[in-house]
Amino acid sequence: MNLPKSSHNQTQGSAGISLVWVIAGGVIIVVGGFLISLLTPAILPRAGSAQSVLIDNLFQVMLFISGAIFILVEGLLLLSVLRYRARKGDRGDGPPIYGNATLELVWTLIPAIIVAVLSIYSFVVWSQIETRPDNAQEVGVVGQRFAWTFNYEATTDDLPPNMDMSRVPEDIAATLNNGEAISFSYPQLHTWVNQPVTVSMETQDVIHSFWIPGMRMKQDVLSGRVTTMSFTPIESGVFRIVCAELCGGGHGEMAGRVTEDGDLAGAWLIVHASEQEYLEQFYYPELEKILYPPEDPVLLGRQEIQNYPCSGCHTLSDLGWTGTTGPILDGVASRTARLDATGFATMSEYLHDSIRQPGAYLVPGFNNLMLQFNPEPDHANYMPDSDLDAIVAYLLTQTGN
Ligand code: CUA
Repeated sequence: MNLPKSSHNQTQGSAGISLVWVIAGGVIIVVGGFLISLLTPAILPRAGSAQSVLIDNLFQVMLFISGAIFILVEGLLLLSVLRYRARKGDRGDGPPIYGNATLELVWTLIPAIIVAVLSIYSFVVWSQIETRPDNAQEVGVVGQRFAWTFNYEATTDDLPPNMDMSRVPEDIAATLNNGEAISFSYPQLHTWVNQPVTVSMETQDVIHSFWIPGMRMKQDVLSGRVTTMSFTPIESGVFRIVCAELCGGGHGEMAGRVTEDGDLAGAWLIVHASEQEYLEQFYYPELEKILYPPEDPVLLGRQEIQNYPCSGCHTLSDLGWTGTTGPILDGVASRTARLDATGFATMSEYLHDSIRQPGAYLVPGFNNLMLQFNPEPDHANYMPDSDLDAIVAYLLTQTGN
């Protein structure tokens, strides 16, 4: 291996390439890498968070380096094929080359430096996006097959102005007066521009992965653990939320989608222009549904059913649901043939049982995938009898084919 540095074989290869060509090649590599890196916004979705700017910059640097290396390697390959091809009648061998310590040192050192720089840069970006800001809005996220549910809290400090305390149910008023928080659920994540958000995520069943491509943030949701993730939106708008872990037949329904009518179905992140707009258009109206529940059980049930993760799996036109993993709820109150199959006397009894014990009778063609909703608060998937009665009262109004 220890050959004299300038054997005639090595000088022969480079003698034909002048300095001008080397400089021109260098310029093509750098400019080409730069042009390739400009593709970043076309490759990635709209950058909607402070974190996405950091990540996109890192991605752009990586694309520049890999683009330059691509042009270098492919350029040398093309050059070799054209310049050193066998001419007509040339039956000779190539020159015997026994190694070049300088070259080997250079092609080991340069990648080592690139990898080291990228590792440090990536670590700095990772540390920044893993920061949990003190002033963050905190939202609970529950993943289950096949929907996301977002849990918001309210204490006496968060109540709408001009509250009519006389209309608030006693138990809720007592909780608030004790200084404790009340909570409500919603199928979308709402926040506002420049407000850091920290989500605490749990799963009711298998592993899911909570991904907001526009925020460039993704985190697995694991059984028996609470995982967290923070981001700060920098522009208002709507951003898709996606489940990025195959979790069963309805996995695709855990992603936000736009219906034929242009409505947003499934999970979406809605970023309002200001805190005021967030409070007026989302937080106060949703909170008021809990603070001033309707007395009509049908209206109450229509409200309550939307707080449970039913929309991912069922179709219910009245609420714009289009899920196909579970039986259709349109016209469910008219499917009296199920009474013969289950032995119940009334549709009310059948509907109660199908929520408390969904596996006891399966509508033909559907699998045993639905959560069992329990009447005791210490069980997972708690649904009080009062909610169940209201939800059944509402479902009994769903008649037709
Ligand atoms: Cu949840 Cu895929």
